[in-house]
Formats: sequence, structure tokens, C-alpha cells
Amino acid sequence: MLDFAINKVHDEARQGEAFAPFKNDANEYRKKFYIESYGCQMNFSDSEIVASILHENGFGATGRFEEADLVLLNTCSIREKAEQTIRNRLHIFKQQKRNKPGMLIGVLGCMAERLKEKFLEEEKLVDMVVGPDAYRTLPLLIEEAETGQKAVNVLLSREETYADISPVRLDSNGVTAFVSIMRGCNNMCSFCVVPFTRGRERSRDAYSIANECKDLFVKGYKEITLLGQNVDSYCWKDEQRDEIITFAKLLEKVALIDPLLRVRFSTSHPKDITEEVLQTMSRHENICKYIHLPVQSGSTRILQLMNRAYTREWYMAKINRIREVMPDCGISSDIIAGFCTETTEDHQDTLSLMEFAKYDMSYMFFYSERPGTLAARRYKDDVGEATKKSRLSEIVKLQNRLSHQSNSNDVGKEFKVLIEGNSRKDENQWMGRSSQNKVVVFPKNALHFKKGDYAVVKIESCTGATLIGKAVD
Ligand code: SAH
Ligand code: SF4
Ligand code: F3S
Repeated sequence: MLDFAINKVHDEARQGEAFAPFKNDANEYRKKFYIESYGCQMNFSDSEIVASILHENGFGATGRFEEADLVLLNTCSIREKAEQTIRNRLHIFKQQKRNKPGMLIGVLGCMAERLKEKFLEEEKLVDMVVGPDAYRTLPLLIEEAETGQKAVNVLLSREETYADISPVRLDSNGVTAFVSIMRGCNNMCSFCVVPFTRGRERSRDAYSIANECKDLFVKGYKEITLLGQNVDSYCWKDEQRDEIITFAKLLEKVALIDPLLRVRFSTSHPKDITEEVLQTMSRHENICKYIHLPVQSGSTRILQLMNRAYTREWYMAKINRIREVMPDCGISSDIIAGFCTETTEDHQDTLSLMEFAKYDMSYMFFYSERPGTLAARRYKDDVGEATKKSRLSEIVKLQNRLSHQSNSNDVGKEFKVLIEGNSRKDENQWMGRSSQNKVVVFPKNALHFKKGDYAVVKIESCTGATLIGKAVD
């Protein structure tokens, strides 16, 4: 099996991820490519599709951009800072190209889609601009760019799901893998650029998803995260059986592959997560008891401006229902501080909602206006930067307290942990996750576990981010 390189630099949309180790296979190939990925997990997943397409076309991966013939940046537009990070990085590549004129630079992903041809005007020395639905045309675009022309394909598709392309697992721990089940988003959250960069929502063939998951399990993977911007609106028609496959049905299909295969999913929109999904989760031990349920704001007025289609009370009722069906379910959130017109009172509503929901974890941002979005067109970005930042720091402070509280409540309990590898800080300790997605570390000691095994761990202490315990027989 070939191992490919991926260079995870900044995961702007989610938490930071470290530069990844890789195995170089470039020497087996005539040409070498280097790819760096930014943004959400779906972008990382797309890089694995791109690597697969390039591999088929005679390119091998390298982890050193200095030796690459083709340098690719898979970009994110979610906040202004994400785009700025990418522009800074591009300057370094352009410097390299000045010393090595034959080298091609390609910009992929959401920023490519947002800026289109304008990218080439703004960033001279970029040779290719390729949107997220145009990766199949990469070989042609590379040929075009090799003749010295600029190559652009930013067409969005209503059908493309790359269902038949088997992604090359980049930077894999061999235990956990991500599988895209849909693309695009039909919601129009007013702050969000994704519907413009990723196009219309479309669901991938359920059989191709199940086959990819089965294949991963056969290769030794033990956990699969089903990915989509809004997984609960997954909907695919099985024409042969004349049956509609909903997200709950898909979840069950994957869970039934093997009880030893864990299933996770991300992201759920609170308005779309159904009772059927909750019931399916509670029925199957191997569907992880963890839901990422981004609230964005705790104020009904702000939620309306955001076009989130739920109120504060409706969201609270959803949290109650999740806890009724699965009392041990982990819940996390995304929160935006300082959206247009947000008052101190709205901000207080966010804080009190967080207290109510007792999130185990949250991703927290301050509002960044994105050109072309509904909010940019309709509302004034009128909360000053200092206010946005001070509100965000209050939110972060509260979440730290909630996370610590949530972890403290787990001390003394036992959890089934899937071992992902060595703890980063100490190779004499294992690191894994509980069903609730909490990181658990425990000493290797005499019990002969290996990566990919399940261990029952009794929690003895904790930090805000980690549970610390001992394996029990
Ligand atoms: N599809 C997912 C989220 C995608 S983007 C969902 O609906 O939950 C990830 C997170 O980035 C969002 O949940 C939101 O909290 C944040 N985000 C998106 N646009 C933003 C913006 N313009 N400014 C600040 N944060 C933003
Ligand atoms: Fe953006 Fe909303 Fe779609 Fe999430 S659901 S990707 S926040 S538009
Ligand atoms: Fe960023 Fe695009 Fe994902 S904007 S968050 S990479 S869908």
C-alpha cells in the first residue's frame, strides 16, 4: 500500500492541527506534487481525492515543497484570517517559483471558488485556480498550465460527489478515517460563505459510502467519521429498491458493518437533526454518543438575523431531548461572537445558553464579514473589533470552565477507549478517545494493547482537555 504525504498546516475552521508525518513515495514517480490543506475536515478529505487523481496521472507525493514540480494549496475562505494565512503562505511558494521557473502553483478549494479568475490578477505567479467540483479536470489543467497558459476551472456541479474515486489516505493513523457523504450546502446562514464556495447540496451514493467504509474496516480502520456540512439533510434515492436513504438509515447501514467499527458524524444543523437519528444512535453501541450541534448564538433575535431557522428555546428543547434519549451523550458547539447588531444582552444570552447546554467543548470565533454573503449585503458589521474580542474571550473563558467541569464529572467513571496511538507528550502512554470524543491518556503498563484496540479505562484525574486514567482488566 502506498502512503502519501499531506501537510496539515492550519485548520482554521476547527482547531489547529500539527504538521503531519509522511512517507515519501515521490521517487517512484516522474513528477512530484506537494499539497497543503487548510480549513475544515471536508477540505482535508478533498485533498485525499486530489492525491488519488494525481497519483493516477503519474504524480508522487512529496512532503517538501522545495522539490515539488507542482505545489497545491487547498484553501479556506470561512474567515478573513483564513484567507490571509493562505496569501502569506503563497508568497513563500512564489519566491520558490522564481528560483525554479518550471514549477507550477495551483490554488484549490474555497478561496479558488470565491475569487475565481480574480485570483490570477491578484496573485501573479499562480498558474492554476481550481474549484472544489473541478478536481477531475486537474490533469488537463496541469497540461494547459505546462504550456505557459493560466488554467482555471471553477465550475460548480449539481452532481459531482467523487463517489467512484477511492481517496488515498493521507497522514493516516491507520485507525480513524473520514468519509465524505455529501457536498455543498443549501442552507443560507447569513454569515457563511460555504454555500457560495461549495455550491448546492448533493448526497453521495449510499452503496459507495458503505463500500468505502467496509474497505476501511478490512484495512484495519476502527472508526469512521461521516462528513458533510449538514449531514442530517443527507438524502439519497436507491432507485433499484425504490427506497429513500435518510441520514439515520445511512448511519445504521455503516454501524451494521461490524460492531467493532465505530461511527461518528459531523456536522449536524440543530434544525435538521431528527428523532430517527437520535433513536438510531441510542440503538447502536458503536455509533458514538457525541453530537456537534453548533448553536452560533444564544439570542433568538441574532439567530433570526443569522437565518439559522431555530430559536433559543427550540435549541434548548433539542438539547433536553438529546439528553433524554442518551443521558451520556457528549455535545459540542460552534459560537460566533459579535455578529451584526449584537448587544450586551444578546451576548449574555449566548453565555447563559452555554451554561444551559454545558458544552463539553466548543469552537469559538469572532464574526468576520465575508463578501457576497447575505449578512454582508444586508447588515452592517457594526460591533467594534475590541468588543468582538472581549466578548470572544469571555466565551472562551466560560467554555474552559465548562470543559473542565465536564471532565471532572467523568473522574471515577469507566470508558471504552479506542487507542489511536502514543500520547504526544509521553510514548509510555496510550492516547485514545471515548465514545463522547474526549481524549483519554493512560499508561501502557503490562496489559498488551496495541493501536486500534479498545481498552476500558477508569478515569482518575483530568485537565480541561484530557481525561487521565488506568486501563482495567
Ligand atoms: N456546516 C457547519 C459549519 C461550517 S463552518 C454548520 O452549519 O455548523 C464552521 C463554523 O465556522 C461555523 O459553525 C461558524 O461558527 C463559523 N463561521 C462561519 N462563518 C463565519 C464567519 N463569517 N465569521 C466567523 N465565524 C464563522
Ligand atoms: Fe454555512 Fe450554515 Fe451551511 Fe453550515 S449550514 S455550511 S454555517 S450555510
Ligand atoms: Fe473553509 Fe470551505 Fe471548509 S470555506 S471551512 S474549507 S467548506
